Amino acid sequence: MAPTYAPPSLALAEGRGAVVTDCDGRRYLDFIAGIGVLSVGHCHPRVVAAVREQAGRLMHVSNLYFTEPQARLAEKLVELSFDGQCFFCNSGAEAVETLIKLARRWGNPRGRYEVVSMRNSFHGRTLATLTATGQPKVQQGYAPLPPGFRYAEFNDIRSCREAVTEKTAAILVEPVQGEGGVIPASVEFMQGLRRLCDEAGILLLLDEVQCGVGRTGKWFAYQHYGIIPDAMALAKGLGGGFPVGAVVIRRGIANTFQPGSHASTFGGSPLACAAALATLGVIEDAGLVDHAGRLGDRLRGLLESLAGRYPELVQEVRGRGLMLAVVLKRPAKPLEQLLREKGLLCLATAENALRFLPPLNVSVAEVEQAVRIIEQVLAEFRAEGKGSVPSNSRGENEQ
Ligand SMILES: Cc1ncc(COP(=O)(O)O)c(C=O)c1O
Repeated sequence: MAPTYAPPSLALAEGRGAVVTDCDGRRYLDFIAGIGVLSVGHCHPRVVAAVREQAGRLMHVSNLYFTEPQARLAEKLVELSFDGQCFFCNSGAEAVETLIKLARRWGNPRGRYEVVSMRNSFHGRTLATLTATGQPKVQQGYAPLPPGFRYAEFNDIRSCREAVTEKTAAILVEPVQGEGGVIPASVEFMQGLRRLCDEAGILLLLDEVQCGVGRTGKWFAYQHYGIIPDAMALAKGLGGGFPVGAVVIRRGIANTFQPGSHASTFGGSPLACAAALATLGVIEDAGLVDHAGRLGDRLRGLLESLAGRYPELVQEVRGRGLMLAVVLKRPAKPLEQLLREKGLLCLATAENALRFLPPLNVSVAEVEQAVRIIEQVLAEFRAEGKGSVPSNSRGENEQ
């Protein structure tokens, strides 16, 4: 394999719910869940059954034909979000790329093409999405980057206002920055962005690839803010482990695309849509959106109490619902490794944050067990006198 990932030190073989087992039979609590993909846990029986059933019936047809699972998924997404139309693809980057293409195609007749995105954001690894990503480390070595991107400060409406020009077609933002360290947008910021876009006559595009589909305690994170975007990108948790990307575009704007203007061979295959429908069905029937909100509060409370007891190690707890980070006063990578040794999987991100994205159906007992492991690790670091040190190691392979 090409060395795009640091060589993994763990080989996983099986998973069930919030627990994965490695090739030697060791069990781990999976609090990163495929980086937010396994919204209903590993191998949820309903998702497995739906994939099996659909795989034996009709796995793939071209988008030149209709299939029932695709139509039903589009209907379901619109029912859960806003009046719009869907485009299906296979990944987060492809979904955000679709947002960028929407902005260009919508803007071109109006003399507009620029997309304003946020510093410290993460939008994917294609050339356009890594250019929208406001982090030099992601862009490094890929010059020349495509033109037409400008950057503003996250949670700073003045900076966004300054970045908008007569060439701007859209503002692109994650309601909760994920890879950037799990930083929620403020209400004033999101409402300010909606107002700014309306005044400037431009599109508000949301990247809900990581924070969407129940993760923050609402079906979609924008629903915390009393606003409606012009389009949003989804992926990760939507397929419950099966690769599915989707874009929901407000009705009236969706017809910016016309037959032949955008496409994806595998996007919205019956198999992918069956997996997504089963995943959304589980989330809905088991009340997992509210559960994520409640368990998120519980996990957050427990982590905050740890923060109070280990002030020399922990700076703060950040996030929303079951998208949380413990922000440390030291590099997070060594703690990630020690947590793994003790049976808890999470991910160091943004240098000094430990990110937790457990399945939405994680149990109270699993949350409490995870916090006990975190406490053990903090206690070991305290005992060894490894308090606050300057950050010098970056997380690798973050997304
Ligand atoms: C907010 C956000 N957007 C886009 C992406 C890219 O998604 P993918 O890796 O599926 O292309 C990610 C991946 O982590 C993400 O967190």
